[in-house]
Amino acid sequence: MGAADREPAEYRGCPLTAVRVALVSSRAFPMPHWHDYDLPLLAAELAGRGATVEVVEWDGDTPVAWASYQAVVLQSPWSMWTDLTGFARWLRAREDDGTRLLNPVDTVLLGSDKRYLLRLGDQGVPIVPTTLVEESDAAYLKGLFPDLAGPRPTLVAKPIAAGGALGAREFTAAELPELIAHLRAAGPSIVQPYIAAIDIHRELGVVMVDGSISHAVTKAPLLVPGQPVRELHPDPQPYPGLTAQEGRVIHQTYAALRAMLTNEPLSVRLDFVVDPASPSGLLLLEAEMVAPVKFFPLFPAECANLAEAILARAAA
Ligand SMILES: Nc1ncnc2c1ncn2[C@@H]1O[C@H](COP(=O)(O)OP(=O)(O)O)[C@@H](O)[C@H]1O
Ligand SMILES: [Mg+2]
Repeated sequence: MGAADREPAEYRGCPLTAVRVALVSSRAFPMPHWHDYDLPLLAAELAGRGATVEVVEWDGDTPVAWASYQAVVLQSPWSMWTDLTGFARWLRAREDDGTRLLNPVDTVLLGSDKRYLLRLGDQGVPIVPTTLVEESDAAYLKGLFPDLAGPRPTLVAKPIAAGGALGAREFTAAELPELIAHLRAAGPSIVQPYIAAIDIHRELGVVMVDGSISHAVTKAPLLVPGQPVRELHPDPQPYPGLTAQEGRVIHQTYAALRAMLTNEPLSVRLDFVVDPASPSGLLLLEAEMVAPVKFFPLFPAECANLAEAILARAAA
């Protein structure tokens, strides 16, 4: 179905029952303890505004008429982290069939490959120092260690495409052989020093909606020695008091990201390590652009705002 064939959708004053919104989830999440706590809250806000909301699995068995929805929101398609090829195929098919996908496909593709961090770093965004490793060269990797200092002098290796710390592992200098073997098996990865400031100052997650700051949380560190089960976002706490300096770094980061994209994403989450010793005070760890967790159990008003933003886009 092409764009011209869709039912007209209107918002505020017109028949909202005509507005069908798909919240895209997964048949099963990569880890059994992952939950999407935002989904029922967002669904309720949309339904409360008269929309028909359907939760649809991107990887389900039943064919779905994706283009028949006025808005398709990538809510928790997190099984894609274990089937990136299948998900890329699904995205291409959504482009071909004219699905009204929020976020747009270019945003989702950019967010599916952590090499965007290096591009943002090149644009002057303060990022966690990041090295791309495509070939696991022993001498080169050894050379990354002597710069490490501080209370936790380790390197974190992460696949270039991952969420929820899937596949992330930490290595000491004594574990260089294990790091080399790990990277050979893992394929293209990024390697970063462990930023120990996170253990004291936590991580700052900033949810952006339609290009503006919606809300912010701090989160506990996720890589905890001896704790193999990793919570998705441990101990989120509302953080209402963004400083002017933090605001500057957030806007600088978002502007650099936005410059890489054709259209405004509906929503992204910018995650920074809070590091008061660094010149900017914040170091970007990740820009979650595929399907960011938004901590709506802590932010009911912001959940309502996102529902409004979705319906405004559905009606556009
Ligand atoms: N370089 C690092 N220094 C300190 N903590 C890190 C580092 N890299 C990852 N972590 C921890 O692991 C978590 C997941 O890493 P992240 O880069 O956000 O990858 P993912 O895309 O898998 O969520 C972070 O929220 C943070 O707690
Ligand atoms: Mg993360």
